[in-house]
Amino acid sequence: MRNIYLIKFGGNALDGKGGMRQLAHEVADLVREGYSIVLVHGGGPEISAEMERLGMKPMKVAGVRITDEAGLEVAEKVLKKINTDLVDCLLDAGAVAVGMPGYFCTECERKKPYKAVENGKELTVDPGLVGEVVSVDEQTIFDLLDQNIIPVVYPIGAEAVGDKVQHLNVNADTMAAGIAAGVHCKEMIAITDVPGILENVHDPSSKIDRVTFKEIDQLLADGTISGGMVPKVEACRKAVLAGAEAVRMVNGRDPESIVKDVIMGAPKGTLIVKE
Ligand SMILES: Nc1ncnc2c1ncn2[C@@H]1O[C@H](COP(=O)(O)OP(=O)(O)OP(=O)(O)O)[C@@H](O)[C@H]1O
Ligand SMILES: [Mg+2]
Repeated sequence: MRNIYLIKFGGNALDGKGGMRQLAHEVADLVREGYSIVLVHGGGPEISAEMERLGMKPMKVAGVRITDEAGLEVAEKVLKKINTDLVDCLLDAGAVAVGMPGYFCTECERKKPYKAVENGKELTVDPGLVGEVVSVDEQTIFDLLDQNIIPVVYPIGAEAVGDKVQHLNVNADTMAAGIAAGVHCKEMIAITDVPGILENVHDPSSKIDRVTFKEIDQLLADGTISGGMVPKVEACRKAVLAGAEAVRMVNGRDPESIVKDVIMGAPKGTLIVKE
């Protein structure tokens, strides 16, 4: 049984290129110490910025990006660029890393129209070309880890439609949790741009240290958890249910240590537990 640590970070989580370099150094050190690490990243703000630059209108409902053909093309381009930058940083830090889209190691299917609650109102949402993970080719990941290679995944999935392949935009937390469950990871750490789940999204000191599934339901129902935090808590629940020993959200802006001390057991961020 491998002890795999799945680390996910989002578009705004790190402090620019310096933050990415710091994370890459920490991850490279951990791999040298014998840890097996899989990285999954998002790129939400960068995708939105590029869409706006091109005159397109980014649209999200309950944290999930509504995606058409043109939006998917932008997402793929932007995510590939972030992926290349991250792999370069890892190589510079002395690690060996391989970048790949989610469809190299997962099978996805298009997310069907679903009901979501936003601002206290229930809506039916058709997210378009958005995917969910249905299965993971864990051997692809294990083969890389066995050679001390870090898989670095960007969240574009694919499904077969007749004899064609349709790429799908997958929320990065959803992709991370799908892979975390598929490889039976020991821990999942979601690095984001807030200290954890906040009682008041505008007050970083209102962080909740530990949250149960039941409390998450309450926080979703009363609107405390909204936007990108919705797919993130669902991703964390999925990882817990898949048997991960610890699932945490942490702030990526910590200059001392982004993931190293958390992996060593420091009680940072928000810990998500079943009960
Ligand atoms: N109760 C809450 N506590 C903390 N953050 C919350 C809460 N409710 C909503 N949020 C929002 O969730 C955001 C984090 O999710 P978001 O999807 O924006 O980032 P990410 O998942 O880290 O990055 P990416 O989507 O690029 O992968 C926070 O910046 C905050 O605005
Ligand atoms: Mg997000």
